[in-house]
Amino acid sequence: MLSEQSVPVVRATLPAVGSAIGDIADLFYRKLFDAHPELLRDLFNRGNQANGEQQRALAGSVAAFAGLLLENPDERADVMLSRISHKHASLGITSDQYTIVHRHLMAAVAEVLGDAVTPEVARAWDEVYWLMANALIALEARLYARKGVADGDVWRPMEIVDRVEESADAVSLVLEPADDRTVVPFRPGQYVSIQVELPDGARQIRQYSLSAAPGRSGLRVTVKRVRGGGQPDGEVSSWLYANARKGDVLSVSLPAGDLALAEHDGPLLLASAGIGVTPILSMLDHLAAAGATRPVTVVHADRTPDDHAHRQEQLDLVRALPDARLHLWYEEPGDRAPEASAGRADLTGLDLPEGLTAYLCGPVPFMRAVRGDLLSRGVPAEAIHYEVFGPDLWLGRQ
Ligand SMILES: Cc1cc2nc3c(=O)[nH]c(=O)nc-3n(C[C@H](O)[C@H](O)[C@H](O)COP(=O)(O)OP(=O)(O)OC[C@H]3O[C@@H](n4cnc5c(N)ncnc54)[C@H](O)[C@@H]3O)c2cc1C
Ligand code: HEM
Repeated sequence: MLSEQSVPVVRATLPAVGSAIGDIADLFYRKLFDAHPELLRDLFNRGNQANGEQQRALAGSVAAFAGLLLENPDERADVMLSRISHKHASLGITSDQYTIVHRHLMAAVAEVLGDAVTPEVARAWDEVYWLMANALIALEARLYARKGVADGDVWRPMEIVDRVEESADAVSLVLEPADDRTVVPFRPGQYVSIQVELPDGARQIRQYSLSAAPGRSGLRVTVKRVRGGGQPDGEVSSWLYANARKGDVLSVSLPAGDLALAEHDGPLLLASAGIGVTPILSMLDHLAAAGATRPVTVVHADRTPDDHAHRQEQLDLVRALPDARLHLWYEEPGDRAPEASAGRADLTGLDLPEGLTAYLCGPVPFMRAVRGDLLSRGVPAEAIHYEVFGPDLWLGRQ
């Protein structure tokens, strides 16, 4: 909870901080990476930094958090903090690194806002930062403790024991521990981080959802190579697609992620588009393995049936469930998928049972459309869960 003295100061300065957040974020990262170049090379996603749009996630979330503190001083922004803490735990972030981020973030705020940052203003924003940082540190400590590891000790060598081309652009890799440890349990919907060494020596990290059920031998991920279309091709996905071979060893973090299938018997809606099918496949595989009888509505949208990674597997999993229905949309269905509809996914005509819980994964415009359809059909916002395959710029804006 924000102290009484700081509430009016944060309220008065939030608009200035909010409108300067782009400049603050730029300067913050410049300062951070000048002082610690190894963080950009080996920890932060340099694609996110380069494409400009998404680098505001960290600094922007502090301003969003301040706004939530002012609106609901007694509540913590749990959804937002949970998502960030899982991402941090999957990267092995440790509590001492918060002091480094604090130093450069506060220096950037002071430099961008200039004289407006009186000692009183600096104190109030310091308080916001540490409220958020301490909440994150506590959540991350709990995640590490639950896995039985020391803070930040999440990286494991894993061997690729199988590689399958799932579509022209997507490849699945099955990973098994390359040391004497066993696979850590996870919940369907969770992801791992994978770190690879690129040709210039940088060790870049990206997240990949687990695409098969827990309890299978090894961990399976499915990676779609990102084609730049005028911009550079995606670094890590293209590298994995071109280079990851059976027998190679990758550096993989322990599973994390707050999108996880809840264990109850109510009806489900599982909606995905494109490579967003991966966490949904893990959920379907888990439901099929558990012999689940709950009603499941499955929605998937893709460009063509050939682009639909794991298409046959998804059809088979839905068929294996006694009360599941699959609705497919392809922008270009061709004649390979007579069961599918043409065009973009549209839930308005679907028969949706009462009391459903929804899990969505795909590009943000797809999820925004599906979420909008669900809200207008009376599905409560708290029953709609989603995963964004990038920094979540929805955080704090719902
Ligand atoms: C929780 C989570 C789960 C995920 N699960 C999966 C999954 O199951 N399967 C999957 O395939 N992906 C998944 N992703 C996405 C994955 O983590 C990567 O983001 C994806 O593979 C792209 O990474 P990359 O290194 O190939 O691209 P990057 O190199 O990071 O590039 C990303 C984008 O930035 C653009 N870019 C790069 N440099 C510049 C520049 N200089 N100027 C302008 N634009 C630029 C690129 O063109 C590209 O469009 C997931 C992400 C998250 C957060
Ligand atoms: C209060 C302090 C912090 C806040 C508010 C914060 C916030 C965030 C947010 C919002 C994201 C994006 C989450 C998502 O949507 O996926 C993120 C990701 C990340 N954070 Fe933090 N963070 C903090 C501290 C730290 C620290 C101390 C480090 C370590 C140096 C760190 C490293 C990272 C990295 C590497 C990512 C992944 C982003 C990328 O690779 O581009 N963060 N953080």
